[in-house]
Amino acid sequence: MAYAAILGYGTVGSGVAKVLTDNGAEIEKAAGEAVKLKYIVDVRSFPDDPNADKIISDFSVVENDAEVGIVAETIGGTGVAYEFTKRALLAGKSVVTSNKELVASRGRELLGIAAEKNVNYLFEASVGGGIPLLRPLTLCLGANRIEEIKGIVNGTTNYILTCMEKGGMSFEEALDTAQRLGYAERDPSADIEGKDACRKICILADLAFGREFDPEKVRTVGIGGIAAEDIKICSGFGARIKLIARTGQAEGKEYIFVEPHVVMPTCMLNGVSESFNAILVRGNAVGECMFYGRGAGSMPTASAVVGDMIDAVLHREKRRSIGWGAGNSDRISDGSELVSRWYVRSGERWELLDPCSRADTGDWDIKYRIMD
Ligand code: HSE
Repeated sequence: MAYAAILGYGTVGSGVAKVLTDNGAEIEKAAGEAVKLKYIVDVRSFPDDPNADKIISDFSVVENDAEVGIVAETIGGTGVAYEFTKRALLAGKSVVTSNKELVASRGRELLGIAAEKNVNYLFEASVGGGIPLLRPLTLCLGANRIEEIKGIVNGTTNYILTCMEKGGMSFEEALDTAQRLGYAERDPSADIEGKDACRKICILADLAFGREFDPEKVRTVGIGGIAAEDIKICSGFGARIKLIARTGQAEGKEYIFVEPHVVMPTCMLNGVSESFNAILVRGNAVGECMFYGRGAGSMPTASAVVGDMIDAVLHREKRRSIGWGAGNSDRISDGSELVSRWYVRSGERWELLDPCSRADTGDWDIKYRIMD
């Protein structure tokens, strides 16, 4: 029997508790032993909750309980989540998380502590929600040199853009619905401004290229400036505007950026709508692979968190070896030299430009890269 605790009983934490309860038999089969939820740490009280008897407010109870070997951190952010993660790892417990902000900003340090204590720090749920992505990237595609990763990694903005494109819903209405469905961050500006997507592409780049990518230094443009007019013009030729996060290798450097793209009907990302995410990975041996599924929401994210719990049980004796080294800002570019076709517009005039770099796009007010 493996004993677990959940830190934070919000959208993801409550999903983790539900998956552990509802799918106990499947989890036991996959892990080789039952995974029992012993504590839920949250400062709020939930008197009518079926797990009310497990809810405590004092993290040190978990920290000092030697029986608890796995901690699921679903608090989010870099404050108390960082402190509790560090303390749990130092106490010899494996930590699994959906917290992309913490992984992107302190992942290297926390993985270092996990290595010292011979425990696991796993974060499959931090990118792509329920989509199996990080483990396939690092294990199944481990024989490849990764050439490019690009995709839709934020469910909230994809949901908003889908609702705007289909008409009927304003930006505000769509955001409000995304919040009610549990897709949006507590502060949805992290979604709208592209910061959430930026953290996720940094985690993918950390793992793919083995070096730390600092989200603060990545060119990031969100969806706030997308005009209904451009959505309409693009839909006239079957294209959709999507927030795309991209990283890859070119000319001895790694490029990384987040910005809206015009996705043509020929590209597989064109049909990815609502809260779905899709990530295209190109490896030098495998070619292009696409990973698709629910990128946000309580149960899809919990599916990935509990998958990591199973992996932590399976790797109790021999920890999984993942990590990355220090960053090197000399090697990072914002992708402006990347050649692509462009959709450009000034006032009522718009054009689709032949392949060129950003510098050669000329003097247009609006410029979106085209993805074929
Ligand atoms: N706010 C995030 C999104 C949640 O919308 O994708 C999942 O990471």
